[in-house]
Amino acid sequence: MKIINLSQRMMSVARQIRGEGNRTIGFVPTMGALHAGHLSLVQAARARCDVIVVSVFVNPAQFGPKEDFTSYPRDLTHDSALLAESKVDYVFAPAVAEIYPKGFSTYVTVEGLSDQLEGTARPGHFRGVTTVVALLLNIIRPDFAFFGQKDAQQAIVIKQMVRDLAFDSEVVVLPTARAESGLALSSRNDYLDDEQRKAATVLYRGLSRAAAAYDDGERNAARLIEAVKSTVDAEPLARIDYISINDAETLESLDELDDRPALISMAAFIGNTRLIDNIVLGKAKKQDASGAKA
Ligand code: PAJ
Repeated sequence: MKIINLSQRMMSVARQIRGEGNRTIGFVPTMGALHAGHLSLVQAARARCDVIVVSVFVNPAQFGPKEDFTSYPRDLTHDSALLAESKVDYVFAPAVAEIYPKGFSTYVTVEGLSDQLEGTARPGHFRGVTTVVALLLNIIRPDFAFFGQKDAQQAIVIKQMVRDLAFDSEVVVLPTARAESGLALSSRNDYLDDEQRKAATVLYRGLSRAAAAYDDGERNAARLIEAVKSTVDAEPLARIDYISINDAETLESLDELDDRPALISMAAFIGNTRLIDNIVLGKAKKQDASGAKA
């Protein structure tokens, strides 16, 4: 495994691989502080592609002025060891000035989709995400880029950007990896103490209550949201930021659910730590290799 810090070097390595003509490049962008969720993306990339590139870059452009850019956990040595074990070929770990040199002034914004849900709570967040992902896709030009359903809106926004700007990469979205407790794995879980970590399981418990109600036939969005809210409200350490039900592809807000997959997404504070989670209701059952429904 090689660690690359310079964009030019990363570009020329990727260009050379592409030039050989017979190997596909899989790319997993991350901000480091890697956990089993990130590694599940790496494994999926490994299964599908010949050469794996993982970026580790805590992107200042996607953090608000009062957010945790400075305190965000960073440990490239540990991350590199995990990535080497996962048989990654290249780690791209640029410094901030390498990505945003003095005079940097071009930003990518996906209008509309970026302004709701997480975008309302974190103005400018998705502009930062799409700008850095566009840059990384241009530097690496992967055949496939892998993202987690954990950040459902991010995946939707990036898919839209890739379509709109004709990036020559296919976006693959993979399921949320969870702890046994149900808690969605997240680098920000590092901020939680033991008691808070236990309390944080209430997000998924709330979402699961809504899923159970949905399975029992409930299709009213307000009542599904209430199922999540009442569960989370019962946890004294949790404070809800938002709970929302939207079309899982367009993010159109829904009052009554129909046969289209619906995304229930939420953010809640546990102490000062803001966590997000989501589930999709009414997803078509997974198809096996024969095309039969499982
Ligand atoms: P980061 O939070 O490090 O996440 C990197 C990737 O891992 C994202 O695609 C995210 O959705 C995925 N991921 C995180 N937790 C996961 C989990 N529990 N299960 C499955 N996948 C999970 O998302 C970012 O970084 C940044 O916004 C980035 C795309 C790198 C741009 O800076």
